[in-house]
Formats: sequence, structure tokens, C-alpha cells
Amino acid sequence: MPIDFSKIQTPCYVIDELLLRNNLALIKQVKEAAKVDILVSFKAFSNWGVFPIFKEYGFGASASSLNEARLAFEELGVRAHTYSPAYEEKTISDILKYSSHISFNSINQLRKYSHIASQNGVSIGLRVNPEFSDSSHDIYNPCKPGSRFGITADQFGNIQPQEVEGLHLHALFEADSFALEKVLAVFIKKFGRHLPKLKWVNLGGGHLITKKGYDINHLVKLLTDFRNNYGGRVILEPGSAFTYQTGYLVSTVLDIVENNGIKTAILNVSFTCHMPDCLEMPYKPVILGATDEVVGKPTYRMGGISCLAGDYMGNWSFDKELKPGDKIIFEDMIHYTTVKTTMFNGVNHPSIGIWNEKSGFRLIKEFNYQDYKNRLS
Ligand SMILES: Cc1ncc(COP(=O)(O)O)c(C=O)c1O
Repeated sequence: MPIDFSKIQTPCYVIDELLLRNNLALIKQVKEAAKVDILVSFKAFSNWGVFPIFKEYGFGASASSLNEARLAFEELGVRAHTYSPAYEEKTISDILKYSSHISFNSINQLRKYSHIASQNGVSIGLRVNPEFSDSSHDIYNPCKPGSRFGITADQFGNIQPQEVEGLHLHALFEADSFALEKVLAVFIKKFGRHLPKLKWVNLGGGHLITKKGYDINHLVKLLTDFRNNYGGRVILEPGSAFTYQTGYLVSTVLDIVENNGIKTAILNVSFTCHMPDCLEMPYKPVILGATDEVVGKPTYRMGGISCLAGDYMGNWSFDKELKPGDKIIFEDMIHYTTVKTTMFNGVNHPSIGIWNEKSGFRLIKEFNYQDYKNRLS
């Protein structure tokens, strides 16, 4: 039974539980077949209201801040594998309390905090930078020259600090297993000499395992070979893959305006507030029932409800003219949306809900004036 969007109050992010479970099951299958650990990267999705579903599949968590590490502990019931470009003295003790693994971005940070990490029994890693990525989006390329992420092979040298038990690298963005193969080859060439002394290697995120056509068998073979060759634990921490293509942002047309022959449907959602990746990447999301522009068909820009001039995208064509009250349903709006949204302009935040065939729609979270007011003072 398809989701009945007509009954859902907008604006609302709607997670499709079946699609979510399909992703979780596939990622679990990889984890078991390759005998690796797979962590949910909270930076892509941390709607803890649905963590009870995640818990059924037994993943760990990857955190990049004290808040994420604490949420992992409180709501997923696990200690996080934590990495941050730098840690602060005022929060390091709490971060360690909620973490089983911590990766440092520099030798300075390692020197500063390794002692307290060891005292707390937290496994210590270093983030390395292989200086190679095949990401074509600069904003998502942590390995480009001048990057602030990780220690390069030159900086690492031949001496491996004895307290270091693991290496962490992150080089990919929405990548397939063949991109991982290339990164692994460079990583082994540059850092392979350190591997025999390590307990774990974290291969970061960017593995879009749940994308149609992803070669799961190739990934499993790659990970299995790597694990067999070097012997330690192999860890992946994808974010997007967990909630890729698992739901929608449902909005309503409030008005249609026209300027210089361009028609804009003004929506009760915003690209800058609620779909920031569309502007940052940039990319054009799919709208259910619409296509890219087709000459001769009713065609519109979608305009956000904020006052930012650039808060729009275009163009989409529809079978019929749009009118106020029509629903506009953006696809694939669950990862890197709710975690990145803002209340800029005081724009109300879309609710968050989950839908399954048996129970229908369940509202998980609604936002109100107090949420807006409490962010500031
Ligand atoms: C260190 C690290 N790990 C994991 C991820 C998750 O990546 P993705 O959501 O592309 O799988 C990111 C994303 O920026 C990251 O920086």
C-alpha cells in the first residue's frame, strides 16, 4: 500500500519504514558476510525516535561531537567511535565517557589527550589522509590539497606512537566499491607498513551501499581480502547509506507568482532551511509526479518560504497547472536534512513522522514557537 500523502499535515518529513528496513537489512548482510563492523554515522541521520528500529539490526555508532556521542549512548545504547577535527579540554572527559574509540586528527591532539583516553580505557586512533579521493564535489572531498583532515604519510613518518591502536580514514562521497578499491590501494601503499601493529582500521563513510546497482559482492570481497591480509578489525561508518531513498519531504503550494514569464510555486518549506544540500552541492531533487522541464507542459520553479533570494530551484514540469493547496513531495529527503536544518527567518520546522503499512502514519516530532525561541535568547 503506497503512502497516503493526502492525510499528512504539511510540512513533514516522512520516513517509509519498509524502505528503511530494506536498507538496514542490506547493510547488515554486508556486515555479516564481510565480518566487519558497521557504524551508523550520526552526522547524516540522528532522529532517535526511530532508533528502536535501528537497534534490531545491531549497528554501532560513529560520532563527531559530544552531543552525538551522548545520543549514541543514551538512545542507541552503544559507546561511539568518535572523531572530531579537534577536541576541547572542557568536553574531552565527557566525550571519552560516551566513546569506546577516539580518533585524533593530529599528533598535537594525540599528545594532548592520549593519556586521559588511555586512562579511560578508550581505544586510540589517528585519522590519516591518503591525499587521494575520486570525489568530484570539492565540498565533500576531505583529501584535497590543503585539507584540514588527517595526518599525511609524510607527516606520519615511520614512527607509530605505541598508544595508537587504529587508523581512521575518510575519503569517499556517495561512492561505489570500485572507488573504495582505489582508495584502499593508495592507503595500503602509504600506510600499509603500520597495519601489522594495529587492532583496527576505520574506512570512514561515503559507501553508498544501498544505491541500486551497488556491487555488494565486490565490496564484500574487497573487505574480506583486506581483513584477511592484515588481520585486525575493519570498520565502516557510512551515513547516507542507512537512510538513502527512505522517505520524503511533503509540502504544500501556498501561492503561484510570475515574473518575466517565470512561474514560481511558493511552498511551505525552504531549500536553505530544510533541504540545504540542494543548494550546497548543488543538486536538483526528484518531485513525485513531476519531471525535468518539458516544453509545452506546465512548468514551475519551486520557491522556498524564506526571504533568501536564492531559496528556489527549477524547473519542474507537471501534467496539470499547479494551484494553492496542491502537495509537492520531494523524494530522498531523510539523510543530511533533519540533521542540518535551521529555523532561519523563524520558518517553522517540518514535523517528522514515520509510515508503515500496518499502522499508517505516526507523528514522531512536531515543532513550535518554543523550539524556535529556545534556540536563542
Ligand atoms: C569522518 C566521516 N565519517 C563518515 C561520514 C559519513 O559519510 P556518508 O554519509 O557520505 O556515508 C562522514 C561524512 O562527512 C565523515 O566526515
